[in-house]
Amino acid sequence: MSTPFDYADGELGVDGVSLADVASEFGTPLYVYHRPTIGARLATVREAFGGYPTRVCYSVKANSNLRLLKWLDSLEVGFDVVSGGELERAVIAGVAAERVVFAGVGKTNAELERAVASELWMITLESVEEAEAVTRLANALGRSAVPVALRINPDVDALTHPHITTGRGMDKFGLIPSEFADALDRVVNRPEVELVGLHMHLGSQITDMRPYELGLEEVVRCAEQAREMGAPLKWINAGGGFGISYDGEPVPAAADFAAAIAPTIRATGVELVLELGRFLVGPAGCLLTKVLYNKSRPDRRLAIVDGGMTTLLRPALYGAEHRVWPVKEHGGAREPTDVGGPICESTDYLARSRPLPPLGSGALLAVLDAGAYGMSMASHYNSHPCPAEVWITEDGEVELIRRRETIEDLLAIEMEAL
Ligand code: LLP
Repeated sequence: MSTPFDYADGELGVDGVSLADVASEFGTPLYVYHRPTIGARLATVREAFGGYPTRVCYSVKANSNLRLLKWLDSLEVGFDVVSGGELERAVIAGVAAERVVFAGVGKTNAELERAVASELWMITLESVEEAEAVTRLANALGRSAVPVALRINPDVDALTHPHITTGRGMDKFGLIPSEFADALDRVVNRPEVELVGLHMHLGSQITDMRPYELGLEEVVRCAEQAREMGAPLKWINAGGGFGISYDGEPVPAAADFAAAIAPTIRATGVELVLELGRFLVGPAGCLLTKVLYNKSRPDRRLAIVDGGMTTLLRPALYGAEHRVWPVKEHGGAREPTDVGGPICESTDYLARSRPLPPLGSGALLAVLDAGAYGMSMASHYNSHPCPAEVWITEDGEVELIRRRETIEDLLAIEMEAL
């Protein structure tokens, strides 16, 4: 079972910490992360890829909490950022620039300038024009040999949800074969930049190994071409995308991904970079939400809860099905139940038609596997403040790592214009 949260004496918790107690101390909706699970999952990846020189990066977009970044930095991971905001988060968390890779299909001039000036590990370029822009900026800033990577779009279907598929030829990301030679010309044998890496990222929540094999075969072909031109390649970045189990059924393990990825690039002799988000933090988190009202619908029960699509967008946006467990076990008959949020949108459900026991007003529900793309995709729609975040440490301490937003926080940046 992938989740660390489990029942003891009829109550959901972890390491002796009761989630009901956590909710009564910090309120709901609340994100709760179990830090030892993140550490253990990182260790699994490192062990699985131990036979091949590999640097594991954390993809900041999955969960951008500053305390989390600072702690991950102490575990010596690299960081994958995709905006000036994420770069700033990493810097503030204390991450050294040489541990940061910067991808992103639409970096602005200001973001690129900051990236060049910061002397990052490498800047991953996604278009010919971006390659030109970096060269121009390096010149303007008097920098030479700025380390860059090219993102390859290998035209491979990641066999995941279409909204999170990024490596098909029609997708906006990276360079397709007809653009690659042109991009190489801009970054090889130029004094301003040095092509040190090739990158691909096929998508997210991938549970099939074949796309990695096919994608990397294309990347390896590109690596040969780049080297023939004289590029000093040191890294192949296979991106992220390792899937997790949202329904509790088995999914591939880190070792399965290693078996698909490492042999394909072994012949190149370069080091492997991974940039994982969901796999590291997804199963470690849950969202606690409280039932406000119970209603009935023709063929089901309906519970209205205090967290919705502004708290956890995945069900509304992708039809994602997270397990929803009552925090207190209840012997009553389970009946199909919808879990709806407070937002005025008909897609605002955390779950549809789940077999749940009767839920009294005030009952708590835990939405599992919400550690990735939960808080980082939260919004203020309907002027709801964002929830708080806590984590449970290796010593069983419960620490607040982001306080609950207030309505004053939310209004502050508009007040000056009032
Ligand atoms: N590297 C790049 C360049 C990426 O764009 C992403 C994710 C990752 C790494 C990390 O992917 P992961 O290991 O987490 O699969 N909001 C969606 C997921 C979007 C992923 C975007 N890119 C969701 O909730 O399913």
